[in-house]
Amino acid sequence: MKRFVGGVIVGIIATIVLGFCGVYLYLYTGAFPVGADNPPGKLERSMANMAVDQAVGSNAPKQENPTQINSANLIEGAREYEEHCSFCHGGAKSKTSPLAHSFNPPVPQIINRVPHDDDSDLFWITKHGIRMTGMPTWDKHLTDEEIWKIIAFVKHSNALPPDVQAAWQQAAEGPKSGEAHVGDHDESGEQSHSSANQH
Ligand code: HEC
Repeated sequence: MKRFVGGVIVGIIATIVLGFCGVYLYLYTGAFPVGADNPPGKLERSMANMAVDQAVGSNAPKQENPTQINSANLIEGAREYEEHCSFCHGGAKSKTSPLAHSFNPPVPQIINRVPHDDDSDLFWITKHGIRMTGMPTWDKHLTDEEIWKIIAFVKHSNALPPDVQAAWQQAAEGPKSGEAHVGDHDESGEQSHSSANQH
């Protein structure tokens, strides 16, 4: 019996070692399709999705979005979004980015299809990025407050008040067009000072 158990353990270890060697050799031959014009296989995709879901689920802060929903904050989120995110995720000019099909895994078009995930999950993804996809970490470029505002904007982007919609459109046209008027109608009376050349 002892011998049998020992044999099984050796067998398992040998299979694992051989498996690793096989994968290593396969990668070493250069046969693995690393080009972004190759969609990931089913197994790779489901393993990666599971890893992302689990990591986001256990690391995202357990809190509501602290952004007060008013025009000033949504406008600030819109401007930051347009400046940093629209290139990949779609923006005011084109809800679907021309790069929509240039990433593998594909880049979600979060303006065209607003994600239903909790704000805190989207906050965490934006702050930390997703390794080995095109999604960068924004930790060194945006404050937490700015990220929460961007997420608030994204979540409201399919039903924006007209002044926010107009400011967003202006931000997409370029930094100089109508900056002085943007944010005039916010409820708090506070002028938003964020601008396209802030960062
Ligand atoms: C260079 C392209 C690029 C830029 C710029 C970029 N992202 Fe991403 N983003 C991606 C890609 C690619 C993914 C998909 C990652 C994956 O499949 O796991 C992604 C995923 C996301 C997700 C997850 C969406 C979902 O439904 O799962 C969020 C949220 C997100 N990005 C927010 C942002 C925000 C906010 C910004 C700007 C501050 C931004 N991204 C800038 C490429 C980009």
